[in-house]
Amino acid sequence: MVELIQAALDMGWPVLAFLACLFVYFQVSISDPVKKKQATFKTFIGMIAAFMLLMAIANYKINFFANSRLLPVSLAMITALAFMMGIYFTNIGALFKIGGFMFLVAAGLSGYGNWLPQVEGGFPPAEVKLDFGSMSAQQLADEGEKIIFGGIGQSKVQGAIGKGQCPLCHGFNEGFLSERAPNLWGVPDRAKTRLDDPRYHKGKPGDRDTEQKEASPGSGTAETGQEYIAESHACPSCFVVAGFGVKGTNDKQSPMPAIHKPPISLSLGELAAVDTWMYVREGKEAPSFEEITKAYEKFIPEADRPKQQEDKPAGAGGGVLATGEEPVDQIFQKATCVACHTIPGIAGAVGTIGPKLVEGTNAPTRIKDPAYKGTAKSTREYITESVINPSAYVVKGFPDNTMPKEFGKKLSAGALNKIVDYLSQLQEGKEPPKIS
Ligand code: HEC
Ligand code: HEC
Repeated sequence: MVELIQAALDMGWPVLAFLACLFVYFQVSISDPVKKKQATFKTFIGMIAAFMLLMAIANYKINFFANSRLLPVSLAMITALAFMMGIYFTNIGALFKIGGFMFLVAAGLSGYGNWLPQVEGGFPPAEVKLDFGSMSAQQLADEGEKIIFGGIGQSKVQGAIGKGQCPLCHGFNEGFLSERAPNLWGVPDRAKTRLDDPRYHKGKPGDRDTEQKEASPGSGTAETGQEYIAESHACPSCFVVAGFGVKGTNDKQSPMPAIHKPPISLSLGELAAVDTWMYVREGKEAPSFEEITKAYEKFIPEADRPKQQEDKPAGAGGGVLATGEEPVDQIFQKATCVACHTIPGIAGAVGTIGPKLVEGTNAPTRIKDPAYKGTAKSTREYITESVINPSAYVVKGFPDNTMPKEFGKKLSAGALNKIVDYLSQLQEGKEPPKIS
């Protein structure tokens, strides 16, 4: 209430001051006692009326979206105001009285609606900021599903993928064949048993037989299932599930990218959401948000923890991956080409699921291959075709239907053009071009 009066005065003090001056002026200048009394009365009423109008406006300004029970009070004030003005300007009093009566009805109706306790009012709720820490397990799991698949309920949709990129490699559904990476159904249960694998040596990182490219000092020391899952995300090469390592490394190096690092760069909160989904969707009780983030803190040093990006809502699965404004290395990272391909000159592009993209050398030989049935005549055309329609020609020794088929829709023309420009300049045994 004090706040309201304050706001009303802030807005309307010049009006009130003017009326006060008028009041004083009438006191001094009018000598006829009857007229003086009339003038005094009118200015006095005018001041009260103006003040009530200001209060009503202030109330609307402050409480409009707050679903306030005071709103009808404003309407009632305007009603009273209208009646008072009716007394003030007697010549057009009838108009004010009619107006006032209409306001009274409006106030009554809206008051009735507003005072009913169960009615919440139709105002849009204030924008809620994503705060993973204060969500329920189900809400957190929903966020996790958005990050992995791009939306709530999308885990059931074939080919759905979110910013976490996991379905590029992992199957998620029970019994589903998953050749590139372990099917993640059952991970909450089997995580702990992974630690009993003789290949998961505890102790100093040096005691372990896995190559630990991204290992931080805490690596190799997981003690709980959740810590194992956290380590799998933060340091995939710390323990490589047998048979899923990069070819030729004897399962010492994992093809999985560290999820907290570019290009995927999930924050700890987002990682907790992803993990929570994996428990909740199997009907298992997930560890608390704090327990999960603590597990990650063990493996990801402070400096390497990405901050939650506020301008980029989680699970922006539907939009374009790259607009073409970015430098080409960012395009490769954003579009996740780097997870599957080795691309000379591009930081982090060490994937081995697809061929090394030295297309200046590769493309001409592909086009000459008698098995080539595509329509490309030049290196640029071949690259474009490979990105938009990967199955037009399947490189020998690599699986078909592995490279996502929707890049044609998810890359802008500008982004595709930059990709083609860069890849066509890459030749086996030659320095890659500088990135501008
Ligand atoms: C580029 C392919 C790729 C991507 C993308 C990827 N992974 Fe993996 N992931 C693998 C491979 C291959 C393995 C098995 C080798 C290993 O243990 O590191 C693996 C292992 C795992 C494991 C351990 C599984 C087990 O049975 O012990 C977990 C958990 C996991 N990934 C979760 C995820 C999540 C969650 C995401 C998305 C945020 C993701 N991965 C993204 C390829 C990938
Ligand atoms: C999930 C893994 C995966 C991702 C992500 C991926 N690719 Fe591929 N890519 C492959 C595989 C596997 C092949 C080989 C099989 C084939 O030809 O379809 C391939 C083939 C290619 C070829 C043909 C290479 C040659 O030498 O003939 C090009 C060019 C290519 N990818 C470019 C890209 C670009 C650009 C991106 C990102 C916009 C990308 N790929 C993302 C897996 C992937």
